[in-house]
Parts: sequence; structure tokens; C-alpha cells
Amino acid sequence: MSPSDHPRLFIPGPTEVSPAVLATMTRPMIGHRGKDFEALFARIGPKLQSVFRTHHPVLTATASATAIMEAAVRNTVRARCLCLVNGAFSDRWHQICVANGIAADRLDWDWGRAVRPGPVADRLKSGRYDAVTVVHNETSTGVTSPLAEIAEVVASQSDVLLLVDTVSSLGGSRVDVDAWRIDVCLAGSQKALALPPGLTFFSVSDRALERATTCERRGFAFDFVQYHEFWKKNVVPTTPAVSLLYATDFQLDRILAEGLEARMARHREMAETTRAWARARFELYAEEGFSSDTLTAIRNSRSIDVPSLNRELRKRGAEIGTGYGKIQAQTFRIAHMGDIQPAEIRQLLEWIDDIIGATGR
Ligand SMILES: Cc1ncc(COP(=O)(O)O)c(C=O)c1O
Repeated sequence: MSPSDHPRLFIPGPTEVSPAVLATMTRPMIGHRGKDFEALFARIGPKLQSVFRTHHPVLTATASATAIMEAAVRNTVRARCLCLVNGAFSDRWHQICVANGIAADRLDWDWGRAVRPGPVADRLKSGRYDAVTVVHNETSTGVTSPLAEIAEVVASQSDVLLLVDTVSSLGGSRVDVDAWRIDVCLAGSQKALALPPGLTFFSVSDRALERATTCERRGFAFDFVQYHEFWKKNVVPTTPAVSLLYATDFQLDRILAEGLEARMARHREMAETTRAWARARFELYAEEGFSSDTLTAIRNSRSIDVPSLNRELRKRGAEIGTGYGKIQAQTFRIAHMGDIQPAEIRQLLEWIDDIIGATGR
């Protein structure tokens, strides 16, 4: 496919990667046990800490986010985990616990609703839990949960670690690891950071590292203690995706040059445009007040044919997301994250209007 045939991705990951970022990946390989690699890694570290707003280490794994969701519970849960579930990816974290033989209970909200701190506080009173999992931005439903408030409740309990998936929010919505006292915060490269898929970045607090030293099932490949030991020397335990790290080094400069506040404001603007458009034509899937700034999940109340809409959109050079999980058939999703600009969203929505108007639906 030539670049001109490429439909711009308004899907919730992978997102569009700018040609300048892609170009960095054509640079020659370097060995990952040498000075050039250490220099590359040393440049990336502080930039990741700025984006995560933390002074804790932000480690990098050559793996998709699911692997680090698994690693997070393996490295930190000793007694019992409380999984806050309000969509497909938060449900995944519970499934991961079960698959790994980790004792875990779920606290459920209907899909489309945000996690609320009150019921979390009630459940934590039992004193049974030593970790809580939560997904900040549920990519399946387009809901952002009030993480600062949830974190406050978890922080009020001693020795309960907070594990947060910010896979589809970090780089687009506010995430403040230190202010919110998040113990493990993980994000994939392929969403609002606008990098290709393949890397997961994760911050680990001192408490989480200390806990990991006592967790025998933390495994080998994603042992946080070992990762941290290597990180201190600007290396990684196993062969990393070097080309993706070139891209990361370059893209983090672009993100920080834009400025985190400006980047969030751009995401907010695109989200508001998309939400206003969707409310006038369909219904939002997310409950009012908790809609995501990085993607909008739209209830397909007019029963439009989404695959045929996408076929028409591709002729114009764009692609949107279908629904996900158990609401796949009832919803579709428009992602407005990464390096996408407000004018592109406006153009996309005009195209959709042309197409669905033309089909008479
Ligand atoms: C919120 C969230 N968590 C986790 C994942 C899983 O990420 P990966 O496919 O990189 O393992 C996704 C993927 O879309 C996601 O949106």
C-alpha cells in the first residue's frame, strides 16, 4: 500500500503515527549492550517521567499492554486483589488474575458507567485486599473514571497498592502518577502517545518494588525487580525493540514540545466536537460527565451499517472503529487521540454526514 492509499486511523489503537516518527525507525540497528543504547535509554527515561508526571522509574517493556497488566498483578498481589470492572479491559484484569491463580474479587459497574470511589471504599474496609486494579479510560465504552478520587480512597488504606491501566489515556488525558499516588501505571505505545504498537511503559513506585521482592510468582520475563536493576544502568533485561525506542525518543520530544497541557486541550477540543456531533445524530454510550477525551463510543441508535460506512470512508482516506466486546454490534467508536488534529476530526465527521445522509439513514 502506498502512503496515499493509507486510510488515516480514527480507530482506538493503533493510532496514526507521523511520517517523521516512522522515519526514525529506519536507522541502523545498535546492540543493546553498548554505550549507544545506554545513551538512547538515558534520553528516554526522564522524558517518560515527565509524561507520567512522576519521579519514580518508568520502565519500558517490549510487549503489548496485556503482558504488563499480567506482570503488575504477578509482581504485587500477595493476598487478594480487588478488580474494579466497568468494561472489557477492566474485566480482562480480573480474567488475568484468575488465569494466574491470584485470588481476586470483582466490583462491577454496568458498562457505560464510570467506577465510583464510594463502593471501592466500602469494599476496602474488609481489609482483605492488598491491591486494586482499575482502568482509567475504558476503551470499550469510551468512559473515563475519576481516577484522582478513586486513588484517594485507595491511598487512605495502608498497604493497598493501586494498579492503573492508562493504556488509552496517557498522552491525551490528565494522568498524574505522583499526585495520585499510583503504584503501577501502565500505558501502551500505540494509543494517545501516537507510536507504533509493541512497547509498554510502566511506572513502579517504591512500595510496589518493595512488594515485588516478596512476591514469588513475579516470574522471570517481567520481573519488576530485575527490570528496575537494569533500568538503573540504562539497559533492559532482554532484547528490546530498538527501532521502537528510536521512535519513542523522537516522539517524546514532539509530545513535550507541544506541551502536556496543550496536548490535553487539543484532545478535549476534538472530544467535544465529536460528542456534540454524536449527540445530535445518535446517543453517547458513556454516562454523562464521564466521557473520554481520547475516544467516543456511540450507540448506533440509527442502525447504520458500520462496515459499509467504513468502506465509503476508506475511499476518502479514513477509517473509524467498530464496537468492542459484548457491545460490538450496538456501538461504533471514533478515536480522537494521538497526533490527530481538530480539523481532521471535523473533516471526518463531515464525511460521515455525507455518507449516512446519502444512504438515507
Ligand atoms: C484500556 C486498554 N487496556 C489494555 C489493552 C490491551 O492492550 P494490548 O492489546 O496492547 O495488550 C487495551 C487495548 O486496546 C486497552 O484499550
